Order: sequence, then structure tokens, then C-alpha cells
Amino acid sequence: MKEQLRAIRGMNDILPGASERWQQFEQTVAQVLAAYGYQQIRLPIVEQTAVFERSIGDTTDIVQKEMYTFADRNGDRLTLRPEGTAGCVRAVLEHGLLNVQPQLRLWYNGPMFRHERPQKGRYRQFHQIGVETYGMAGPDIDAEILLLTARLWQALGLSGLRLEINTLGVAAEREHYRAALTAYFSAHRDALDADSLLRLERNPLRILDSKNPAMQALVSNAPRLDEFLEAESRAHFASVCATLDAAGIAYVVNPTLVRGLDYYSRTVFEWITTELGAQGTVCAGGRYDALVELMGGKPVPAIGFAMGIERLVELLAVQAGERSEASAELCVVSASEAESQAALLLAERLRDAHPGWRVVTVCGGGSLKSQMKRADRTGAAIALILGEDEVATATVSVKPMRGQGEQQRIALSELPTKLAALLTA
Ligand code: HAM
Repeated sequence: MKEQLRAIRGMNDILPGASERWQQFEQTVAQVLAAYGYQQIRLPIVEQTAVFERSIGDTTDIVQKEMYTFADRNGDRLTLRPEGTAGCVRAVLEHGLLNVQPQLRLWYNGPMFRHERPQKGRYRQFHQIGVETYGMAGPDIDAEILLLTARLWQALGLSGLRLEINTLGVAAEREHYRAALTAYFSAHRDALDADSLLRLERNPLRILDSKNPAMQALVSNAPRLDEFLEAESRAHFASVCATLDAAGIAYVVNPTLVRGLDYYSRTVFEWITTELGAQGTVCAGGRYDALVELMGGKPVPAIGFAMGIERLVELLAVQAGERSEASAELCVVSASEAESQAALLLAERLRDAHPGWRVVTVCGGGSLKSQMKRADRTGAAIALILGEDEVATATVSVKPMRGQGEQQRIALSELPTKLAALLTA
């Protein structure tokens, strides 16, 4: 036998069963985004490497060690996108979208690639739904974005998510802060781990992002960025917080929240769950007012976020108590080959009557016993059995498969109504 080929580590197949949960998730999110006036943009998965190097930042983990970068057959340096923001800015500029609509609200959905160490909730191919807005400088859009995310969790039926927010100020404020941080961490050089020593040289802000528990005391005693903020940045952040308060959305201000990408300024945020283990951030983003100019456009303010679909779909399953969704409501079984055509036609009639029902037929013949076994495997709540007698009398034997009462004979004419009642009982 030949060796069986396998998927690449950290890159998952999304199998039937799970894919339905993904579809439902995507539909709900798309509806909420439409309600806020967002338009979908579909972007390439591969971009020139420079798109990411320039935007995400040379000193970030993503650019330093996680990108899938390769030379194509022309020798061009290309990268599988590790995130969506950079490509979105590239597309907005390339197509002059801001000339047509100076205020843009866009969203995208698709796979992203990062060569991270795979573990539960962290993959090398993962999927994001991302949202990006352009041309709005005030704190009102920051607040609206946070209201939108809160509404997403509500629409999805998720609870218990914690919102953490922070402000990173503007470039000049960060420069002063950076100098203070460099002084502080240099004075504690002996206590720094190898990674942090490297970060001290390249970008001391990154040290605040350290996941090493041994570094936490040092990090929490470090100078705080908010001590370096000017009045305008303070007012911006205060306004965002005030709207959250007025809307009744709970949040925690986390001064060590710095994010793993360099393009952020002012408001940054993460939505975090404690129910998924170490990889608990399900949605994250912030303002990136300097990026459009950095990517070759005029200065245009921007803010956005992305959510990790794998993590959110997993959280939905956890919160639903791992309730596995029946893959079908109804399953049609023919007692013998003679009734198989009638069974197909009955299934068609039921789909006509109730387009929302999932009606599966047990095709392929076999004994009634083996067909009933297959019917059970479809997960259907009810099996509809057609035998010689049922066909002759224009009836169907209706057998509840999950313990909702006795088998009964129902006239074809009454079937849709009676099934509707049984399925909602
Ligand atoms: P990010 O924090 O790198 O931000 O990723 C956003 C979300 O994607 C994370 O919170 C997480 O849910 C999910 N995610 C990231 N990496 C992985 C992984 N290896 N496996 C599974 N899920 C993952 C960004 O990507 C920014 N582009 C967000 C943004 C948009 N900021 C402004 N606009």
C-alpha cells in the first residue's frame, strides 16, 4: 500500500458537521456587518512580501519568524498573507476607493497563514473575518466598532467575553515612552529573558507583550504609556470609554495591551474568553492612523479588527455544551426497492413544503434494518418509512428517532403540518 498523504501540520480540514457551524457563524456575522453598512471586499491570499514588511513592522514576530515567504517562478518575493489589514490598505489605495467614498466600511473573510507553533486554538492556516474602516478620525467610530463587536457576540449567542482596551497614543508620544521604557528595562537588564533582550534593542514596547510569567513583575512595574499621553489622545480615549459606559458595555482598561503588530495608534482592544485555554483572544484590533500614508497614500485615519473563526466556532460549541447539531431533521426510508422512487418524490415534496428542513434519503437499497441504521447515522430526528402498504394507502409511517413518542401512521395530505408540530414539540 502506498504511504498515506497527510495535511500540513497546523493546517486543518473543516469537515462536514463543523462546516455547517462555520456557515452559520459566517451568515450571522455577515448580517450584523450589513446592519452597520459594511461592504465585503475579497482580497488575494498572496501579496508581495513588501506589503507586510512595510505595514506589520520589521521587529514583530510575524515578520521576523512567522511569514510563509517564497520566490515564485519569476523570482518575485511573495508571502501568504499573515493577516488582512495590509492587503486591504493596498487594495483601497490601488483602486482609489477613498476617492469615490471618503468614508469606507469594509469587511473580508478568509484564510491567513502564520508559521507559529501549532496548539489548540493556534494554527498555521487559520481564518479571520476582518473589518476595516477608513476616513473617520474621531472616537465615535472607535466606539461604534466596539458596539458592533458586542452585538456580534449577542447575535451569535456568546457570553462571558471580556473586553480589554488601551490607548497607544500617537507616534510622538510613543517616542517619549519608548525612551523611558528603554531606560527602565536597561536598568533591569539582568532580569530580562533572551527574547526581551532582543526586543530591548529592536522595540522595547514589545517586551510588554511578553508571555513569559517570569517577566510579568518587571512588566507590570514598567513606566506606563498613559503617563506620556497629551491632552488630545487622552480626550480621544476618554470619549471611547464614555460611549461604552453609556451603552452599558463592560470593559477593562489594560495598560499593558500593546498588540503584536506595529501599525496601531491610539485605541487598541481585544475580546478575550477564559473558556478556550491559553489561546483566549477571539477578536482584536485597533486604530492605525499612520498606515495608509506608510503604504503610499495620503494620510487617512483608519480603524479595524479581526476575529479568529476557529476560536469563535470552538467557543460556540463549548458554550452550547458540545450539543452536536442533528445533521438532518428528516430521513426518508423505503422498505424495499419498489418504494425507492416514491421515497425520493416524498422527500422532494417535503423540501417544497418546508425549504428550511433538511431532508435526507437513504439511497442504495438494502434491508429495512440496515436502512434504519443508516437513517440513525444521519442524525435525523424523525424517520419516514414508505412500504408497500403505506404507498397503497397514501400514508407514511413516522418513527421518532430521538425518543419523541411512538411510531404512527400519517396521511400524506397531513404530513407537512403534523411533522412541523412533531419537530417543534
Ligand atoms: P491579530 O491579533 O494578529 O490581529 O489577529 C486577530 C485574531 O485572529 C486573533 O485575536 C485570533 O482570534 C486570530 N488568530 C491570530 N492568529 C491565529 C492563529 N495562529 N490561529 C488561530 N487564530 C489566530 C490582526 O490580524 C489584525 N489584522 C487585526 C486588525 C484588523 N487590526 C486592525 N484591523
